[in-house]
Amino acid sequence: MTTDNTSLKLEKVMQDAEDFLPILGTDFVELYVGNAKQAAYYYQHAWGFQPVAYSGLETGRKDSVSYVLQQGKIRIVLTSPLQPDGDINAHINKHGDGVKMVALWVDDAKKSYEETTKRGAKSYVAPYEMEDEHGKAVISGIHTYGETIHLFVERKDYEGPFLPGYKAYATKAEAKDTGLNYIDHMVGNVGWNEMNKWVDFYAKVMGFAQMVSFDDKDISTDYTALMSKVMSNGNGRIKFPINEPAEGKKKSQIEEYIDFYHGAGVQHIALATDNIIETVTQLRDRGVEFLYVPDTYYDTLLERVGEIDEDLEPLKELGVLVDRDDEGYLLQIFTKPVLDRPTMFFEIIQRKGAQSFGKGNFKALFEAIEREQDLRGTLQ
Ligand SMILES: [Fe+2]
Repeated sequence: MTTDNTSLKLEKVMQDAEDFLPILGTDFVELYVGNAKQAAYYYQHAWGFQPVAYSGLETGRKDSVSYVLQQGKIRIVLTSPLQPDGDINAHINKHGDGVKMVALWVDDAKKSYEETTKRGAKSYVAPYEMEDEHGKAVISGIHTYGETIHLFVERKDYEGPFLPGYKAYATKAEAKDTGLNYIDHMVGNVGWNEMNKWVDFYAKVMGFAQMVSFDDKDISTDYTALMSKVMSNGNGRIKFPINEPAEGKKKSQIEEYIDFYHGAGVQHIALATDNIIETVTQLRDRGVEFLYVPDTYYDTLLERVGEIDEDLEPLKELGVLVDRDDEGYLLQIFTKPVLDRPTMFFEIIQRKGAQSFGKGNFKALFEAIEREQDLRGTLQ
């Protein structure tokens, strides 16, 4: 797939952002997983991502294998090792399946690398060129929280299915898409008292600006608490909320994540749809599990958020949450963790004007998460 360069809107929406990179959008998210072939089946058939590209033994790669799948503008890469040693194995052994690369689409990967490393980013990989019969691409990368990496991907001279070294990949079995369009935001969980360090990183090193912040008074239940700040790049296409645990009576979901992921990492990826009822119905029918919200949440919902376009009944039936801010409202729902360890999950979000993150739902949401933690014996 080639990305449509003609529809670029680089309007600056965050006036405080320096935007010296600048980032055009998310290029891909790469997960290191134990069995990429089966993970690809899951994302294709449960989530409706379409197979796009493959690289492995058949393409001359000896040590690892990657499947690329896409839906709307969302591109995920699933990578597994083929040998017992190496970084991918070490990553999976320590973290379980999880996000390794949050790749950002840029015009100039060399400049992005220089601008960020000179502001203090730790280098992961210096800019290098890759080439095949479809053209050339340039990649560079820096470290962010935990063992997560930001790659900078420059692909304006590349026309192939994904990147050099990959061949087009298709399967005989088709899976209809589920209406997912783009990544709305991607949340990082970091350790105790580390939120501001990473907020500073995104401000100073990446030129992002802060959109909002939530403290433990906003985000706490009887038992658990967390703090969060949301960082955005200049054109608003990249939004990274950063969470840290706060002191509560019991272990917070952020601590549970850190315990099982063994460090900081990507907590959830929010995927945008134009029709959340249709999307979530499809996902649910194909086996994706969502957090349960008690029926009582809906008893006073319209009093809290005012009039909405959707019927209440399907929202209640699916467990979709609604929140309103000054600009409009949003609908959102959260999956259970999609891995065996209680680490990463997805959010499905439909924005109807609102640019916020569902603050009004935090309490209902965290109580739902606590019920799951309780079942896992980690709410202590
Ligand atoms: Fe979110």
